[in-house]
Amino acid sequence: QKAEDKLKSQLGEEHLPKQGFPSEEEYEQKQGCPSEQDQEDLPISPSAEMSLTTHVSSMDDYNSTYRRSIEDPGEFWREISEEFHWETGPKGKFVEHNFDPNVGDVFVRWMPGATTNITYNLLEKNIREKCLGSSTALQWQGDDDVETREVTYDHLKTLVCRAANMLKAKGIRRGDRVMIYMPQTIEQVVAMLACARVGAVHCVVYGGATAEYLADRVKDSKCTAIITADFAGKDGGRQPVKTEVDRALKLCGREHFVRFCVVVRRVGVGDQDTWPKATGSQESSVPWCDGRDYWWQEEMERVDDECEPEWMDAEDPLLILYTSGSTGSPKGVIHTVGGYMMYAATTFKYVFDCGNVTNKVHFCTADLGWVTGQSYVVYGPLLNGVTTVLLEGDPLKANRIVSMVRRYSVTSLYTTPTAIRHMKATSGSEANYKLDTLRVVGTVGEPIATSTWRWYRSTIGGDHCSVVDTYWQTETGGHVMTPLPGATPMKPGSATLPFFGVEPAVLTDDGTEMVGPCEGHLVFKSPWPGMMRGINGKPEKFTSYFQQFPGYYYTGDRCRRDGDGYYRILGRREDRVSIPGAMGQVFNQLDVEATLLQHPDVEDVAVVTTDPTDDTGECHSGGYDNWYIFVTLRQTACLHAQTIFTNLREMLATSLHVFTPPSHIHCASELPRTWSDKVLRRLLRKVVLNDLDLGDFHVVANLKSLPKLFRQCRDMQ
Ligand code: PRX
Repeated sequence: QKAEDKLKSQLGEEHLPKQGFPSEEEYEQKQGCPSEQDQEDLPISPSAEMSLTTHVSSMDDYNSTYRRSIEDPGEFWREISEEFHWETGPKGKFVEHNFDPNVGDVFVRWMPGATTNITYNLLEKNIREKCLGSSTALQWQGDDDVETREVTYDHLKTLVCRAANMLKAKGIRRGDRVMIYMPQTIEQVVAMLACARVGAVHCVVYGGATAEYLADRVKDSKCTAIITADFAGKDGGRQPVKTEVDRALKLCGREHFVRFCVVVRRVGVGDQDTWPKATGSQESSVPWCDGRDYWWQEEMERVDDECEPEWMDAEDPLLILYTSGSTGSPKGVIHTVGGYMMYAATTFKYVFDCGNVTNKVHFCTADLGWVTGQSYVVYGPLLNGVTTVLLEGDPLKANRIVSMVRRYSVTSLYTTPTAIRHMKATSGSEANYKLDTLRVVGTVGEPIATSTWRWYRSTIGGDHCSVVDTYWQTETGGHVMTPLPGATPMKPGSATLPFFGVEPAVLTDDGTEMVGPCEGHLVFKSPWPGMMRGINGKPEKFTSYFQQFPGYYYTGDRCRRDGDGYYRILGRREDRVSIPGAMGQVFNQLDVEATLLQHPDVEDVAVVTTDPTDDTGECHSGGYDNWYIFVTLRQTACLHAQTIFTNLREMLATSLHVFTPPSHIHCASELPRTWSDKVLRRLLRKVVLNDLDLGDFHVVANLKSLPKLFRQCRDMQ
């Protein structure tokens, strides 16, 4: 009754649930029968047809393989390593590690002393052993949806060898760092692979990033060269790219010297024969520095199309990728040649099911500047000999994902909850796409609400696809929690179970491991081959992942484990909001967001609190009368925003029985996002506080949305 009174006084009578709150008795009874949440938790079995063809076809199969991978990880991964080409075998222990900074330096090593080259594995091995030379490796579509290009494995090998020779001719040697900053094109992939061919470390930065963002990464990576493009295709026109490079290099000043830039002529790239001959600066509006800048196409003509791979130590660095941190200081995650190769290839093989069905076409909508693009646009698919679809530009434009799935007969699709919500909001309620070629549909990057998950499975996946909700991080190199199609019964919104060789644990705040169903900090107890080996130039940052809970790799995420041992990711610990329910329950931001997303007019929603965080960066008090909702409505609904907000308050009262209503519901035309589609909740907190000290705002993909959001919120408060 107390809860009801409090709500009544805050919300007004009209917003109270029609039937009032359940009595204590009713509540007890409700506990006894399956609640909505429990029903969500009833597993959905993979289709029988799927189980017939997948690598892992049943839970028994998964359980026994998983057990083996944990009991003897060295032997498990040694067997898997036999699927790859090693020029020489490992010396010493197959795997070594220390996760406890109190004992000594934290380190991880897999197969030290073994030598290989990742490009040999994805080119020569596929061409010679699997006879895939004439199969399509890359299928590219330009931003105008008209330009397309297709490259076979044979042709890719020639391009990579030429580009590798070009880099060598310009003095690039093993261990040098090369920055790649350009639109998503065939040349971007070729540039990455050319670096790997000669043993240089590639560092891809999102092609739409600002010059300031690029300059910080150029300095941090200490790169010798930059591979870039004149323009990117954008909305039927072009967007300058090389101009930004020149600006970035000016910003670097004397602090860092880049020896040369190779510039891909992007204009007219759709048809190689009609490429305009590059003639230097006179004919184009591209800023040019003679002696430093070279046209890619010209240089490619000057070199040979055979290039022997540089044999690299398994523990040599392959790539550096910058994570979307919240401060200005760049954090370059290092992945290695051997472990990353095995892990990207193996997770791809099992999770996207390149089982026994031929003609696999994989479409991952991520940018190559994000680890998802590295592992699941480039390395994972190509190591498995699959066709990978590359898209230049924004995947959210004009129902493009659906049309590309059709156009290229895509068999596995991988995208983000934001893209899925957007597809859902812009499709009619009766949408029935009949995308028959699809077998697996995946999601990554943020927790996915159950209603979004169900729409994805039924409308995109045609009810027959397996949905793989893959949880991982830039630092993990590949999936660490994920269902396996054909084997794992799915639960909407749950990343389900660990991948082979991954040993999760859930800890209390004081670091005690919990057993059975629980909620707490997600950590990993032992290494897997794909995990990062360090943070570029900042060993203390690498150690910090192991400091809070010595002996464990700490993800920084919270999770809930249920009675079946399934994991549900609850988001970053610093984003946690605790909202009390009228019956003593505590909801988190995801519970509230999932509820509101059920409203047909809501496209996107984020819940934040401005309560202070404690030493661990976690907000504990959260949410009593200090929590805020940001919603994005479907375009057609904006005129009725006030009515919809009333509905939303009602939903919170009736479906969740929240104890205190939100302090405010803000209507946002867009939520601030990173390029990898993550809502920047720390910026929403700043909006509420009207605090213009934004930290590193160069990570915001839709920066233009921010001033408007600040203005709106100021006016409302
Ligand atoms: O919070 C988790 C969230 O994304 C974070 C990793 O971000 P980033 O390194 O940019 O992404 C790399 C590729 C995933 C995690 O710490 N996250 C990622 N996947 C999921 C997720 N949260 C919930 N469910 C997921 N499937």
